[in-house]
Amino acid sequence: MTPTIVGNWKMNGTLESARTLTTELKTGLLKMEVPLPHVVVCPPYIHLTAVGDITKGSPLTLGAQNCSAQNSGAFTGDISPDQLKDAGAQFVILGHSERREQHGETSALIATKVQAAIACGLTPIICIGESLAQREAGETLSHLSTQLAESLPQGINLTNLLVAYEPIWAIGTGKIPTSAQIAEVHAHVRSCLSDDTIPLLYGGSVTDRNALELLEIPHVNGVLVGGASLKSNVFLSIIEAASSVMRHPQMHTRTSS
Ligand code: PGA
Repeated sequence: MTPTIVGNWKMNGTLESARTLTTELKTGLLKMEVPLPHVVVCPPYIHLTAVGDITKGSPLTLGAQNCSAQNSGAFTGDISPDQLKDAGAQFVILGHSERREQHGETSALIATKVQAAIACGLTPIICIGESLAQREAGETLSHLSTQLAESLPQGINLTNLLVAYEPIWAIGTGKIPTSAQIAEVHAHVRSCLSDDTIPLLYGGSVTDRNALELLEIPHVNGVLVGGASLKSNVFLSIIEAASSVMRHPQMHTRTSS
């Protein structure tokens, strides 16, 4: 499967820096050897249209970091999936641990957001992950299956989505699970999904230094990148790592899907 590389810019940057970063990524991508992975950038809401003006017609795709479960109405401060679509977004990150922790978003709420996003043609990137305490208690796999099942709406055709495994303790910390731990989780998450075509991403302290190794792990179909997506040269190196895995699959024998 073609790898997907997602940049989550979080609440960073100015209009000018967002434009510069996008332009540098676009220029870098156009110079890169093909085949290219799917590349999605998720700027803050307020920069979506400006970034979208630059990504239009380029190998970059636009995504958002969150959306409302409602499509319109009296929801002060919220942004609807329809509005994201209208602004040019094709993807939306849902259930990021920062939304779950800082805004009290439950898996039940996330499931309604996923349903609303899919209904208007957005592709959700659904994040799941365990805390350090859950990992140390040996609860990682059971927690992830429950969290995933509860974050998915029931009774609709769930093919148009991605799942990102982001251990909470690895986000922004420079700490990263071992390849064996990631392989174990990704095999488990894969077994929980009925559709084998759903891409499974890894996220949490991904950099240009570890991207290649991560992308070689079985069932890792891409990466969700936070801090390292804010520098064009670093993010381009991560994209280049994915492109290299695509160009030389025989050198990356651990990649099973
Ligand atoms: P990080 O963030 O790459 O800065 O660890 C990843 C994420 O939160 O999606």
